[in-house]
Amino acid sequence: MVWTNSKDSALRERAQAVIPMGMYGHQSVMLLPDDYPQFFDRAEGAYLWDVDGNRYLDFMCGYGPNLFGYGHAGIDQAYFDRARRGDTMTGPGEAMVELAEALTAQVTHADWAMFCKNGTDATTMALMIARNHTKKSTVVLAKGAYHGAAPWCTPLKNGVTKADRANQIFYEYNDVESLEAAVREAGGDLAAIFASPIKHDTFVDQELPDPAYARRARELCDEHGALLIVDDVRAGFRLARDCSWALVGVKPDLSSWGKAIANGHPISALLGSDAARMAAATIYATGSYWFSAAPMAASLATLKLIAGTDYLERTIALGERLRAGLDEAAARHGFGLRQTGPAQLPLIMFDDDDTSAKGYLWNNALLKRGVYFHPWHNMFICAAMTESDIDFALTAADDAFKVVKASGPLEPVAKLQFLHQMVDGA
Ligand SMILES: Cc1ncc(COP(=O)(O)O)c(C=O)c1O
Repeated sequence: MVWTNSKDSALRERAQAVIPMGMYGHQSVMLLPDDYPQFFDRAEGAYLWDVDGNRYLDFMCGYGPNLFGYGHAGIDQAYFDRARRGDTMTGPGEAMVELAEALTAQVTHADWAMFCKNGTDATTMALMIARNHTKKSTVVLAKGAYHGAAPWCTPLKNGVTKADRANQIFYEYNDVESLEAAVREAGGDLAAIFASPIKHDTFVDQELPDPAYARRARELCDEHGALLIVDDVRAGFRLARDCSWALVGVKPDLSSWGKAIANGHPISALLGSDAARMAAATIYATGSYWFSAAPMAASLATLKLIAGTDYLERTIALGERLRAGLDEAAARHGFGLRQTGPAQLPLIMFDDDDTSAKGYLWNNALLKRGVYFHPWHNMFICAAMTESDIDFALTAADDAFKVVKASGPLEPVAKLQFLHQMVDGA
């Protein structure tokens, strides 16, 4: 099928009139390489079809929620069965208790669970609970880490006041000295240390957590009576069948979850230890859709697959197959690639590509060959992918390297310069 985008272009034009900038937030393709479709028609397993009918092997997985495949039959059956009997009701269903039981059984540090809709709800509740528990204000966070789109954490400063960002001190991820310095600066006012499970910031190489850094964060919280928060919204259940910092032997007091916990159905969660139970019970936290039963039923079905299948080992093996194949192809074509982070959460950037020009051309060429990659955000491997899907991506990547090689000198990507100005200059 010949790649076209006439329907997408027409929708974008209509959107310009009725949606600010035609689209907003992280799913806007404004900053992606040319031709990335904005609007999609359907999704199944590891694949996605745009409104023009172009099919893509989707390495973004909805920016994380798709863990077992789009439209997974068992998970969706649980969702629709529950929804037919009642979803958003005047109170929660039985599934709320069952899901809290299942999550606290699955995640070692957790003694209780609270449910909400978005990752931002969960990280914001974590912040409030830490302040309520300690009766202190200052939170120490890693520079550049994403924790959501509320005024306290949104990356763009438009619409945000100094007061929204008060009582925050930043450290460098994995840097014990800078963490200690931030905690010293907090003095007697430390409420929490916030950590991403891995450094999965955009535009920069990913980093696994140094166990010494993770352990020091735990010690510092204990010394100051503060809470340690791990934000597992993006990586949760993709690195471990437990909180991701179980891999480095560190238990947080609170962990925030979302995305993959219900394979795309809208629910997020905050899990906590007994130490934080009373503080959690005495903040006011709620939302009209937070107690809907059907996403909870979907999450329960997802957790059964997490506990009972080899999805984790498979996504790691598929990620490693992709990584090895890309390294081999890049070397053959004379390119250096930086593939960072865990293999199942790949981030792929070119060496010697400060202006992202090579990356953008390569990603565009992949898109035209039916592979949806992202040039500067970590991607995701889902358990519905197969070895032959990975090989399909590798064949497309091989062709895409040829396109970059044949291109000659490239112009810097102008739209990214605009983004960096917005972030730095805001
Ligand atoms: C680490 C992390 N925390 C929090 C969030 C916010 O989640 P949501 O977009 O569901 O509000 C995200 C979203 O990408 C995330 O990656």
